[in-house]
Amino acid sequence: MNVVFLGPPGAGKGTQAETISKKRNMEHVSTGDLLREAVQGGTATGMKAKKYMEKGLLVPDELVVDIVADRMSKGGHDSSFLLDGFPRNLAQAKALDQTLKGLGNKVDVVFYFAISEDMAVKRLTGRWLCSSCGANYHELYMPPEKAGICDKCGKPLGQRPDDKVETVKKRLKVYREQTAGLIDYYERKGVLKTIDAEQRAELIHESICKTLDTPSKEEIYDRV
Ligand code: AP5
Repeated sequence: MNVVFLGPPGAGKGTQAETISKKRNMEHVSTGDLLREAVQGGTATGMKAKKYMEKGLLVPDELVVDIVADRMSKGGHDSSFLLDGFPRNLAQAKALDQTLKGLGNKVDVVFYFAISEDMAVKRLTGRWLCSSCGANYHELYMPPEKAGICDKCGKPLGQRPDDKVETVKKRLKVYREQTAGLIDYYERKGVLKTIDAEQRAELIHESICKTLDTPSKEEIYDRV
């Protein structure tokens, strides 16, 4: 089964992707994480991507599509993918359809994380991440036991440079203008499932699992 998490920055896609992918043995493909790794590693792609990411803009499709296709080709034909932050525009959605077709597969369900812009800003400006293991916290909603220190590995927490309020506002504008149109694209394909992303994380998790455990019409027809 191949799943897409779609929604504005700060909607909680990464938080849910981390637990769902582990629980259901899915390959978590986060384009944000892949791009940040490329930037940290100083690769040619990373160097090109950096200037867009710092400004809160989308990285050009040709860079992102190649990174995703490469990552998915390493997963193999039997893998289930959980795509987090990809696709982000129509060209990327079509490229994803092609990549999956090449693997004899398709997008089965798209979870749209619905959240107000005010809440997304609060979530991002209060987000803290572990510099070592990548664990994700929020200073108000999911605080670590000791401020500034990771509960899991004891290393210091830091903030993402693009989580400054002005860059967050830019990212939300880019989402509205370039990504939100995918809600219709997937609705028309009959695979969209809207999630109230302002709920507690545990309730969102339960709601996603419930949908993933419900057989699709195709699966029911296949069984009869
Ligand atoms: P990316 O890393 O993908 O960032 P994003 O989509 O902007 O999403 P975020 O990671 O900021 O938010 P999230 O929804 O994952 O929220 P999270 O779970 O962390 O992309 C970064 C940049 O890379 C882009 O700007 C672009 O430049 C480039 N890029 C990436 N993909 C690209 C693509 N396909 N094409 C072109 N460019 C691309 O949660 C946020 C906070 O809220 C956390 O503190 C968390 O603890 C807290 N939280 C989560 N859930 C809850 C809850 N239910 N209740 C309370 N708090 C919660």
